[in-house]
Amino acid sequence: MAGSDSLERLHDATRDALVAARLAFAAPRAKLDLALSELDGVAPRAGAARTVPEVVKRHLVPRAIAHREAGALHACLLKAADLLTWSPAFYPEDGYPDIPRFRDGYAFGMSVGDPRWAKDAVTTSERIGLSYTVQAPHTLYPDHAHAAVEIYYVIAGKALWKRGGEPWVERYPGEVILHETGMRHAMATADEALVACALWISHTNAPIVVVRA
Ligand SMILES: [Fe+2]
Repeated sequence: MAGSDSLERLHDATRDALVAARLAFAAPRAKLDLALSELDGVAPRAGAARTVPEVVKRHLVPRAIAHREAGALHACLLKAADLLTWSPAFYPEDGYPDIPRFRDGYAFGMSVGDPRWAKDAVTTSERIGLSYTVQAPHTLYPDHAHAAVEIYYVIAGKALWKRGGEPWVERYPGEVILHETGMRHAMATADEALVACALWISHTNAPIVVVRA
């Protein structure tokens, strides 16, 4: 089935990107090795074509990406986008003014989900979660935290990232960012949309909470 081929290519490109990132200075190799071994344990399956949200249609578009593996992954993601299960961020309209704006400017597309919460996931695992995220320009993903150990891989877009009490850092395609259990983190885009891959390698059914100072 053509859909399965697209998803398999997406998974292969994700794997290639992580393998390349593993060689970078200061890469979290043990965590990347765990992610790679868990990725090898799931075979992506394609379901019916899914609805792609407007924010994804607008910002997951062909673009020049100088980093080789990130560019290859982006190309595969474009072809497989309608096979992912897209959702807005989970946060309710809780009265904070940044949440509605964030919900308008962000979506994540799940490829592998935990069956305990991701009821519509086609490919399931209780050991790894695999999603792709799209964050519009000039959008803040506010400080949040979860028990899951998380590895992000930047696919496209220069953006600002913050971990715990560290300062904001500009990150580029091909970079890996590790969030340990409970570590608060945030992402802010400027003029470029951010496209990233997010892997959860523990606590795959953990809730995400916004952290307010
Ligand atoms: Fe996170």
